[in-house]
Amino acid sequence: MRNSILIVDFGSQVTKLIARRIRELGIYCQIKSFDKITKVLFKNNYIKGIIFSGGPSSVENKDSPNVNKFIYELQIPILGICYGLQLLCKNFGGKVKSSEEREFGKNFIKIKKKSVLFEGIYDVNKKYQVWMSHGDVVTEIPNEFESVASSEYCDTAAIQNLPKKFFGVQFHPEVVHTPKGGKILKNFVLNICQCSQDWNMKSFKDEIIKEIKNNVEDNSVICGLSGGVDSTVTAVLLNQAIGDRLKCIFVNTGLMRKNEVLEIKNLFTKHFNISLTVVNDQKIFFEKLKGVSNPEKKRKIIGRLFISSFERFAKKVKNVRFLAQGTLYPDIIESLSAVGNSKVVIKSHHNVGGLPEKMKLELIEPLKDLFKDEVRKLGSELKIPKEFLNRHPFPGPGLAIRVLGQINKQNISILQKADDIFINKIKKEGLYDKIWQAFCVLLPVKTVGVMGDNRTYEKICVLRAVTSTDGMTAETYKFNDKFLKECSNDIVNKVSGINRVCYDYTSKPPGTIEYE
Ligand code: XMP
Repeated sequence: MRNSILIVDFGSQVTKLIARRIRELGIYCQIKSFDKITKVLFKNNYIKGIIFSGGPSSVENKDSPNVNKFIYELQIPILGICYGLQLLCKNFGGKVKSSEEREFGKNFIKIKKKSVLFEGIYDVNKKYQVWMSHGDVVTEIPNEFESVASSEYCDTAAIQNLPKKFFGVQFHPEVVHTPKGGKILKNFVLNICQCSQDWNMKSFKDEIIKEIKNNVEDNSVICGLSGGVDSTVTAVLLNQAIGDRLKCIFVNTGLMRKNEVLEIKNLFTKHFNISLTVVNDQKIFFEKLKGVSNPEKKRKIIGRLFISSFERFAKKVKNVRFLAQGTLYPDIIESLSAVGNSKVVIKSHHNVGGLPEKMKLELIEPLKDLFKDEVRKLGSELKIPKEFLNRHPFPGPGLAIRVLGQINKQNISILQKADDIFINKIKKEGLYDKIWQAFCVLLPVKTVGVMGDNRTYEKICVLRAVTSTDGMTAETYKFNDKFLKECSNDIVNKVSGINRVCYDYTSKPPGTIEYE
């Protein structure tokens, strides 16, 4: 039987890191927003432990996020982190108050009492570095709990209720700045929850295929392919689950890179025995995007157009009930805020934020709990060739969000040529696999230049190349001067419409990888 840990999300920016740490231990886990916790989740007894994440709210606020009380009756161990600890205290009759002394960043805790949570890592009465991020503190601990660690401003840096197996830490064990944090999580999931470390990509693959089979029954599924890692892995998974009841569609939006449509079609038909239809919808994409320069509007329009292409295609497929998409976990958290009441949307990823409310097809998103590097591992498990797995990510809205401002065929064609020069040069120098993602961006401003004896007045092209492990944060890739100079010369000399090339040195945060 599958072991799993349920992470209840209260909106912390680092909730995803808890999931990563648990999966790195070989234990499956899922993240659910606090308001989506229902009894059904526990029906099959897979969940062996629950972690309450941190969050930006104060438990003392009237509308602060909370969980349904049934969760405390399940006899499943709980670990509350930061807001999670405060919530445990509040729900069991303790008191939490806003403190004058806010603790943000590096701090030290003193272990007051031996605890199974700290087993093998902490000595009583010694000080240890942790990462704190809180304004509220527990001023009255509930009756059945005891404090096992304290910090300078907080007497409840860690608490426990041993009979119930409920624990809480005021600091964040999931971040690297809590050096022993990984071991604390390990103690919780292995020693307290008694999970066995039986999760790996092979078991994930087998389970997800089984789940898809059960879900789809004898219906058909259509899957939108983009040629990228995510949609390819999704299609291969579905193909293994339901065979030729999977029908893939590749929409030629006119917003792909140079020669990409043909390359992907050839690559796909060479490697897989999966039904693939390419539809040419360029005209409608350009028509609907005409005059639109707002990034979110572009994304929403493209999202809707994709869906209508899919729906037109679906009409030709027998018994179709589902649309499969390669949505990843980071796509979801940046598009919809994980917590119901937060208003922060970084970008509407086209396969999440652009979906019309009354979509006729039901969604299947088998990768929605995974990070990109995990999807690549799953792809290897599915024996998908490296040509697919090592491709740089490419956003669903394509070059529409790399031609800034208004889009037309001419702008797209200019960008395609520049991008082709940049990427081919990266490949030629053997740098492609060292870089997470590289591409060109066309700015909607013109600058003056001189070519031969003539004045030029053309657009600026920005080169962007970043390293990253999951796309959530990114660092600029450091090319040498010669490489950048050659790219700049090649692009200005060979691409009419561009007379200046810049290199973007912004990391994420504060920038994002894409420009729109
Ligand atoms: P940002 O720009 O948010 O991008 O730092 C993080 C990663 O996500 C990709 N991205 C998208 N992928 N649909 C996608 O499938 C989208 O709408 C989308 N927007 C951004 C981006 O290329 C980067 O790898």
